[in-house]
Amino acid sequence: MSPDNVALHCRNLSVRFGGVMALCDVDFRVVQGTITALIGPNGAGKTTLLNVVSGLVECCSGTVGLLGQDMTRVPAWARAQAGVVRTFQNLEVFTTMSVLENVMTGAHRDVRYGVLGALFKTPRYFLEERRCRALAEEKLEFVGLFAERSLPAWELPYGRQRLLELARALAAQPQILLLDEPAAGLNTRETQALAGLIRRIRDELNITVAIVEHDMELIMRISDAVTVLHFGQVIASGAPFEIQKNPEVIAAYLGEDAR
Ligand SMILES: Nc1ncnc2c1ncn2[C@@H]1O[C@H](COP(=O)(O)OP(=O)(O)OP(=O)(O)O)[C@@H](O)[C@H]1O
Ligand SMILES: [Mg+2]
Repeated sequence: MSPDNVALHCRNLSVRFGGVMALCDVDFRVVQGTITALIGPNGAGKTTLLNVVSGLVECCSGTVGLLGQDMTRVPAWARAQAGVVRTFQNLEVFTTMSVLENVMTGAHRDVRYGVLGALFKTPRYFLEERRCRALAEEKLEFVGLFAERSLPAWELPYGRQRLLELARALAAQPQILLLDEPAAGLNTRETQALAGLIRRIRDELNITVAIVEHDMELIMRISDAVTVLHFGQVIASGAPFEIQKNPEVIAAYLGEDAR
């Protein structure tokens, strides 16, 4: 069993896709209340690891401990119910819905009315919808998108759509938030604002964050701990300043530049 302060603990995880060993005997720990980064060159297995943690991909061996429970065989929806929420590497916004409606879909994770309630518009339905709307508005305010809440999502510039995704994930009230390359496609100013926002997610909302990211400056600035994957294996784990000067890590990245 992991100590109480470990929010996520993957042990000896292996995942195989046909002939590709995407993860091989991986250990990954995220301490509660931290921002922990998962980095590594393209194809290293970072997204696969988030997929295993969120329950979208099954591991062929190993265990996934989440919030003090073994969730290795727990389905994705139940992990989300337990507070494990993620964003995706590619932007996943419902473009024809309004900004507010998009975020409300996140807030619907634990609504307490059924299909019939929605169909017959029962009092509980209205109550729950009001609660979801208030939650969504609060998260839009948090990420700085409140003024744009009535716009159709497609009208938002790319960087604002990324924030919308984040607001939707927050509306699901995560205990652990898994972010897959949230800074992809953002300019320098947007990336800096994102760094501040992720810190506020940890400090003000008390959410544990695991982040996959290629932007090394961002990672070094906000992370409490970093794990490095290379060809599906962990080659280093530690504080950002240790990782930065680790010869094996430097070699892995130089190898990528040379390709
Ligand atoms: N569904 C799948 N079927 C087959 N192979 C897959 C599948 N998903 C991932 N892979 C392979 O597993 C390896 C790890 O992929 P993964 O997407 O986890 O890497 P990554 O570290 O997220 O890379 P990137 O930085 O490019 O996003 C790659 O060789 C990839 O081609
Ligand atoms: Mg990836």
